[in-house]
Amino acid sequence: MFERPSGGERAVLVRLGLGAPLDPEDIEEFTQLAVSAGAQPVATITGRRERPDPRFFVGSGKAEEIRLEADALQADLILVDHPLSPGQERNLEKLIGKRVLDRNGLILDIFAQRAASHEGKLEVELAQLKHIASRLVRGWTHLERQRGGGIGLRGPGETQLETDRRLLGQRVRVLTKRLEKIKRQRDTGRGARVSIPIPSVALVGYTNAGKSTLFRSLTGEQAYVADQLFATLDPTVRRLSLPGGTPVVVADTVGFIRDLPHELVAAFESTLTEAREANLLLHVIDASDPRRDEHIDEVDRVLGEIGAGEIPQIRVYNKIDRLEITPRVDEGPDGEPAAVWISAQHSAGLELLRRAVAQRLSRGVRRVRLRLPLSAGATRARLYAAGVVLGENSGEQAFELLVDLPDAELANLTRQAGVELVTDQPLS
Ligand code: GTP
Repeated sequence: MFERPSGGERAVLVRLGLGAPLDPEDIEEFTQLAVSAGAQPVATITGRRERPDPRFFVGSGKAEEIRLEADALQADLILVDHPLSPGQERNLEKLIGKRVLDRNGLILDIFAQRAASHEGKLEVELAQLKHIASRLVRGWTHLERQRGGGIGLRGPGETQLETDRRLLGQRVRVLTKRLEKIKRQRDTGRGARVSIPIPSVALVGYTNAGKSTLFRSLTGEQAYVADQLFATLDPTVRRLSLPGGTPVVVADTVGFIRDLPHELVAAFESTLTEAREANLLLHVIDASDPRRDEHIDEVDRVLGEIGAGEIPQIRVYNKIDRLEITPRVDEGPDGEPAAVWISAQHSAGLELLRRAVAQRLSRGVRRVRLRLPLSAGATRARLYAAGVVLGENSGEQAFELLVDLPDAELANLTRQAGVELVTDQPLS
């Protein structure tokens, strides 16, 4: 459904310092954003204003400068690193004669490319429709229709150009209804999902921190999880064995970004379901980034916003090869590992990280005897699959298992019909 540009659209980037000097780091980050969306930046135009111009956002002289530069460099697209009003976007497009996309539109486009789950795709499509709705209804007749998609036209963009307001409204209603249904199903299905006693770990972090690299080095060549229990999980979830044999599932998530616009948080939320439901978060940080502390705060803030602020975290300071330091673990005040310094790319410190994860996950785990009715064969199989069964002493009436389980999972299991906690004592 989402088309990718074949060669990379030539883009002119625009960023102003508003009431403050421009920070080169901001320009660098915006350039990376443009490249991640598949654009090829051919020029960056900067400037400074006290406040945005109501008509073009930039001043009219600056707008003219952009037009000349874009023509000279045969750019296809103007990317503006600020939120533009529909009117400003349209006025710029009219003047320049090329497609103009603001920061929100660009981030949405990247989300459209990355959303992996069905729900995530719907959320992003809905956010894109809402974003362009006000622009569309006034008409884009001043621009030639673009065939084959392109940045900001991926997802619903292209059909939008051919669609009238009534159809747009219908599509929004259809998507909203589908999403509500998925959410309802997810809520009712949650009971089943949380009873899977495999702890889950989610990688979160600022964009470019190295989450995907770490995900790959941790999971190696292991195949995607394909067994039935995880069929509804996102394909970026894999299984991993920790020291001591404890199996966990690890999920990669989409990166965070500064100034994530509010209208996008809904779309963001569903791609982060894995984070919200994880037992432990690995907060991956580019330790070599001069802005790493700001990024840490931003990630923690968004985690709080999506309801994942209370989940235990290990901070993973990545890219230590650039700092020329050696891997190490920092303990928190409780003596538990709180931060691990690694290089995902050079596979340095991964063992320390695995051990730290195992240690943090084992907190709150109890060793108990469970009695399951003979009808609960599926639950028994699941406990075995999770590798938490230490012994079995089954009779003709029931299964009796010695297991290591976190309290929350135990509570879930003992809610199932016929499952009993026998004693906290090991099997004799
Ligand atoms: P998003 O998908 O934007 O959220 O990024 P991410 O956090 O998944 O980062 P990714 O794994 O794509 O890595 C970003 C860049 O950092 C890539 O160019 C990696 O090669 C590089 N990188 C990752 N880990 C390391 C590391 O340990 N050392 C160095 N020097 N570079 C690394």
